[in-house]
Amino acid sequence: MNKQLIQKYNIPGPRYTSYPTVPFWNKEGIDLEDWKKTTLQSFNESNDTEGISLYIHLPFCESLCTFCACHKRITKRHSVEEPYLETVLKEWNLYCDILIKRPKIREIHLGGGTPTFFSSENLTTLINGIFKRADKFENFEFSYEGHPNHTSEEQLQTLYDLGSRRNSFGIQDYDPIVQKAIHRIQSFEQVKKVNDLSKKIGYTSISHDLIFGLPFQTETSIRDTIKKTIALKPDRIAYYSYAHVPWIKGVGQRGFDENNLPKENEKRHLYELGKQLLFDAGYIEIGMDHFSLPIDSLHKAMKNNKLHRNFMGYSAQKTKLMIGLGMSSISDSWYAFAQNEKTVETYTQKVNEGILPIFRGHLLTNEDLIIRKHILNLMCNLETEWNLGLDKTTKNQILNRLQELIDDDLVYTFKNKLIVKEKGRMFVRNICMAFDLRLIENKPDIKVFSMTI
Ligand SMILES: C[S@@+](CC[C@H](N)C(=O)[O-])C[C@H]1O[C@@H](n2cnc3c(N)ncnc32)[C@H](O)[C@@H]1O
Ligand code: SF4
Repeated sequence: MNKQLIQKYNIPGPRYTSYPTVPFWNKEGIDLEDWKKTTLQSFNESNDTEGISLYIHLPFCESLCTFCACHKRITKRHSVEEPYLETVLKEWNLYCDILIKRPKIREIHLGGGTPTFFSSENLTTLINGIFKRADKFENFEFSYEGHPNHTSEEQLQTLYDLGSRRNSFGIQDYDPIVQKAIHRIQSFEQVKKVNDLSKKIGYTSISHDLIFGLPFQTETSIRDTIKKTIALKPDRIAYYSYAHVPWIKGVGQRGFDENNLPKENEKRHLYELGKQLLFDAGYIEIGMDHFSLPIDSLHKAMKNNKLHRNFMGYSAQKTKLMIGLGMSSISDSWYAFAQNEKTVETYTQKVNEGILPIFRGHLLTNEDLIIRKHILNLMCNLETEWNLGLDKTTKNQILNRLQELIDDDLVYTFKNKLIVKEKGRMFVRNICMAFDLRLIENKPDIKVFSMTI
């Protein structure tokens, strides 16, 4: 691990779950009619051939984890479940009215917050409500995020019966000191219970989320967390870099002192250590921050250059249209992005008025579409082809910006390709930033992004 390179390149930068990244969407937003038009266009172009994806945001959690950067609402009142799901289904109906024909759903993902905050009965109402106006596309996939402390056998069975074969659990770290600092106490036994139950019920892909860079993490604590994770043999592991963004999340991330966080070299060391332990256990690194067993579809997709990246991270499936339902959800029609209102109240109010609850969005220009392709290629395949739409001047400008990374032996050009070296993998966000014309043109308030390493 080269400490100087880490110091040099550890700067604020996007994670590229979209291009343009959200802070660079058009300031004037997107016209609702334009959004509907691109949604319908994308739907007509892809519903019969590949189907559509649905992301449903279920924001409630019973207790606040002080590291969390997700859009959530903390409450113990379960009476919020039914009205919220009613609104989500109303929103779905608004979309179905626009699409006219019955959508064929290739993929549903329930994200959060904590989807398993909701009772089995309410989750059934939600999924059945969605399929009242839609059909399943072949190889339909249904996945959800569960909190190990709040996932019962009944919920696991119900979601399986509704068609889910894939789930992911937030683990973060097993060390008691770290767990106390992040206000998330959960035992190995509890995780083992939901993990083993999932396998027994028949889930074919189980994923665990871990984070490096959390307060009080040490080499010893990471070794222990990875050892326990390997013992449960999840099919996929997300090993996220802790994104410290308290200016966005307010007091939510202030449950510990910044001095308690591992410093940049230490933080990267924790990633490299975890990565080696996962390699030793037979896991393969996928794109950035992700690992899978060789038999998992994510690895197969990577081998066949079919890996895709969207707001949910890496995916083995790509659909042109992804509709996001629920507060704060982001939809992607390939030609445009749109984000829903970020509070339950404003979201509900708009849906009840019969309007799509969008508060901002972005219509992609031709240039955006070209740059998006390059950034997706780099994030997913660690290489891209120069002849994908770039004119000579833009290509030369990008090459100039890449020169330092080329000199540092992190990336190289070969024939018509730009290829990331193994050593350059951890700097892939920096490499993408050389292509990010919107970031370069707009000189942002860089406080909007977490650090790249
Ligand atoms: C919506 S949460 C997971 C579902 C469920 N609420 C739970 O916590 O188990 C999705 C994942 O995002 C990751 N995450 C949340 N905040 C993060 C942050 N500040 N930096 C890095 N990863 C974060 C965590 O690993 C978390 O498991
Ligand atoms: S990590 Fe999960 S459970 Fe904790 S606050 Fe965030 S979304 Fe809720």
